[in-house]
Amino acid sequence: MPQTATALRVHAFGEAPRPEQVPVPHPGEGEVLLRMVAAAVGHHDLGVVAGTLPHQPPPFTPGLEGAGVVVALGEGVDDGGLAVGALVRVVTRGQANGTWAEYVAAPARALVPVPAGLEPTVAAACGTVAVAAWAALERAGLEAGGSIGVTGASGAVGSLAVQLARQRGAARVVAWTRSREALPEGVEVAADEGPAEPVDALVDTVGGELLPRRLHAVRPGGRAVLVGYTAGERVCFELPELMVVDVSLVPLNMMRFRVPREVAVGLLDDFAAGRLALATDVVGIDTLDAAVERLRSGRATGRVVLRW
Ligand SMILES: NC(=O)c1ccc[n+]([C@@H]2O[C@H](COP(=O)([O-])OP(=O)(O)OC[C@H]3O[C@@H](n4cnc5c(N)ncnc54)[C@H](OP(=O)(O)O)[C@@H]3O)[C@@H](O)[C@H]2O)c1
Repeated sequence: MPQTATALRVHAFGEAPRPEQVPVPHPGEGEVLLRMVAAAVGHHDLGVVAGTLPHQPPPFTPGLEGAGVVVALGEGVDDGGLAVGALVRVVTRGQANGTWAEYVAAPARALVPVPAGLEPTVAAACGTVAVAAWAALERAGLEAGGSIGVTGASGAVGSLAVQLARQRGAARVVAWTRSREALPEGVEVAADEGPAEPVDALVDTVGGELLPRRLHAVRPGGRAVLVGYTAGERVCFELPELMVVDVSLVPLNMMRFRVPREVAVGLLDDFAAGRLALATDVVGIDTLDAAVERLRSGRATGRVVLRW
C-alpha cells in the first residue's frame, strides 16, 4: 500500500478542486478502505464545491459517489460481500473525504457490492440518479396505465425517469428535451406549446423560467415533482394562473426521501442486466475541468465520470 495518493482538494468554496498528494487513509472501526476506480461528477458536487449546498467547511475532497475495490477492512467489519478485491459502490454523505480520491475510507454501511457485468464507470455514476428518478416517480404517484411528462429527458435523472416510467407500465411518457435522438422508441416528444393531451404528472429536472408554462401540460389536480434546476434556479409564478392550472408543486429532497435498500440494489441489478442504461462521459484528471464546464453549461452528453 502506498503511503500517499492523489486526491482532489478544495481549500475555499468556489475554487476549482486541485490534485494533491495526501496520506492514504487508515480504515477505522466499521470502515472499509477502497482503491477508487471511478467517481461520479454531478450537479450536487458542483454545488458543494461552490458552497451553495450544505457541507462542512474546506479543506475537503468532494465527490458524492463512486466505485472502488476493497483493499482493507477496518475492525468489526463483517467481510460478507465486502471481501478484499470486491468491487463496491460507495456514497459519501457530506464527509471531509469524498470520492474524488484514489483511496477512500468509508463506513461499511455506505457500500453496496457491484453486481457482475456492470461496468465500473456506470456503477460509479448510476446510483444516486437512478434512486432520484425512482423517488420522483413515487412522488409523482405514477401507476401502471398512467401518464407522465419528463423534462431534461436526455439527462441522467430524466433519461432514467423515462426508462423507469416505461418499466412501471406508464401508458404515455412525454419528453421535453433538446436531444430527441437519445429518446427510446415510443416516447412522445412534447411540442413547444406542450403535448396534445395533458399528463397526470410531471417530473421536472430543468426548472427555470419555463416551468410555469410546462404546468399547463399537467391535468388539473395533477402534480409536478421538482427535481432540479439545470435551466435556472428562479421561477416566477402568477398565482392566479397557478390556481387555474391547479397543479401541486412537490419538491424532491433526496437528503430526506428514504429509498428502501432493496430498491437501490434492484436498480443496480437492472443496470447489470441491461434493463436500465446510463450514458457516461468518462474523463481523466487532466480533462476534468473541461467536463465540469460541459456539465455546468448544460452541454454534457452523459453523466461525467472521473476514472482513475
Ligand atoms: N432533488 C434531488 O434530490 C436531486 C437528485 C438528483 C439530481 N438532482 C438535480 O436534478 C437536475 C438534473 O440532474 P442530472 O444529473 O440529470 O443532470 P444532467 O445529466 O446534466 O441533465 C440535465 C438535463 O437538463 C437539460 N438542460 C440542461 N440545461 C438546460 C437549459 N439551459 N435549458 C433547458 N434544459 C436544460 C438537458 O436535457 P435535454 O438535453 O434532454 O434537454 C440536460 O441533459 C440537477 O439540477 C441536479 O442537481 C436533484
